[in-house]
Amino acid sequence: MTVIWRRLVVLQIPILGFSLVIGFLQSNLESAEQNFVQPPDRFGFGRPAMITDIEKLDIDVTPAGTGLPPGNGTAQTGTATWNRVCGSCHGPNGEGGTAAPVVGLEPQTGPPTVGNFWPYATTLYDYINRAMPRNAPGSLTADEVYGLVAWILARNEIIEDNAVMDARTLPQVTMPSSNRFVPDDRTGGPEIR
Ligand code: HEC
Repeated sequence: MTVIWRRLVVLQIPILGFSLVIGFLQSNLESAEQNFVQPPDRFGFGRPAMITDIEKLDIDVTPAGTGLPPGNGTAQTGTATWNRVCGSCHGPNGEGGTAAPVVGLEPQTGPPTVGNFWPYATTLYDYINRAMPRNAPGSLTADEVYGLVAWILARNEIIEDNAVMDARTLPQVTMPSSNRFVPDDRTGGPEIR
């Protein structure tokens, strides 16, 4: 009898503790429900986005060249910008430094570069314009970006030093690695996991 009684006590203590906790949570939940205030439909700040706001963010250039802005540059005009802004990280000749090389045509033995790995010339404009220089992205003019694109393409022997790069000519540049990629038409499933 004593054994059963003791067992009951042993069981009841945790049960009592558990129901106290539940009771505490319930009362907290009830008071949270009472304090709940319906939010207003509008908070009264902000304004509708204007076309000019959207244009500032709409900077993407597609592989086909859609989105390339007015402006132009050559490898010659790009040299000064490269030396001033880019060479410190990528090396004076684009051979690499603290940052990756951007010049190099050999895909088998060398590291990936614009010359041996990038399938489109157009997206080089997009990348430099949006992300470079790494320490001040967005600080370059369209002419400067076209000049840098031309400089990188010319150093990779893809275009001539005096070839003008602009919204019309850049999409016509064929990259050495344009045929090194295949469309990824896999739909999923175990073979890609
Ligand atoms: C403060 C250092 C720094 C400066 C300055 C800089 N970059 Fe970069 N850049 C990087 C880093 C870091 C990466 C990412 C790749 C890597 O890890 O090296 C990169 C990547 C790139 C790539 C892509 C390389 C690839 O094939 O993936 C290009 C192209 C490039 N930079 C061009 C430029 C140009 C043009 C300028 C001058 C306007 C510039 N960078 C200035 C640090 C820098």
